[in-house]
Amino acid sequence: MTVKHFLRDDDLTPAQQAEVLALAAELKKDPQSRKPLAGPRGVGVIFEKNSTRTRFSFEMGIAQLGGHPVVVDGRTTQLGREETLADTGRVLSRYVDAVVWRTFGQERLDEMASAATIPVINALSDEFHPCQVLADLQTIAERKGALAGLKLTYLGDGANNMAHSLMLGGVTAGIDVTIAAPDGFAPHPDFVDAANARAAETGATVTITSDPSAAAAGADVLVTDTWTSMGQEDDGLDRVGPFRPFQLNAELLARANPDAIVLHCLPAHRGEEITDDVIDGPHSVVWDEAENRLHAQKALLVWLLDQNSVATESFTS
Ligand code: CP
Ligand code: NVA
Repeated sequence: MTVKHFLRDDDLTPAQQAEVLALAAELKKDPQSRKPLAGPRGVGVIFEKNSTRTRFSFEMGIAQLGGHPVVVDGRTTQLGREETLADTGRVLSRYVDAVVWRTFGQERLDEMASAATIPVINALSDEFHPCQVLADLQTIAERKGALAGLKLTYLGDGANNMAHSLMLGGVTAGIDVTIAAPDGFAPHPDFVDAANARAAETGATVTITSDPSAAAAGADVLVTDTWTSMGQEDDGLDRVGPFRPFQLNAELLARANPDAIVLHCLPAHRGEEITDDVIDGPHSVVWDEAENRLHAQKALLVWLLDQNSVATESFTS
């Protein structure tokens, strides 16, 4: 039995991603229109790192779909303590219809997904944040219409989860993605290869640079994220000095297209990766972006439950 999971952005083909985004737009207009979890059926939502947006948006989204969210601090479970992640996946598959999990290394998600008979959704790992990028794409589409052919520039830590997910998810949507990062903070080469492979299918491009000014020039979308992701606080690297030229400020914004929009997944560190005048200014769409977590994740759940419904029926019969 093949279960469809969402562990990284390129788990969705370009056509599948477009279906999820169309459904997200539909659900935003009519939030109570789909109840695939009526019963209620359950969804496990597990956090091994802090969260505000992901926690609230999944918990409310699952409730709006008619279901019951079982929200758990992973640090209080047997996860990774004595029980293998695969065994945890087998057990959770007997209780709930999907698992949403925020964790550390991507291999943890892979291990649980290898044994789970229900969809496993990555709610942020060290490597990827694909649910965020679905919301980002929905937000961009609302402002710009067609996604294909846009230029998106990400400024900051090119080796973090947001950079990797924007690269993979962006080119899946046909967006030309530029990652501008200081030397030593470029995206992981395996993920650049994966993005280039996907870009070859969609006609998009991937550019990696350490020149923030050139990267911002002519951009339709500017994105940044924290310079220190959760779990990197004590990694011994200078996560301030090399990043200063990559701050998303008025000067870099002026290099972009006049109607450029600014995204940040939040939480923002004002005065570090982004200035107050930019995040609070007319180009910023960060609050819509945060709201769209709710709609995009509901769409993802509806879509994944639909994809896996044949498997679920055979399992329960
Ligand atoms: N953007 C995001 O994932 O926010 P939280 O960490 O608050 O969930
Ligand atoms: N890159 C950030 C994203 C937070 C939503 C982190 O992993 O901490």
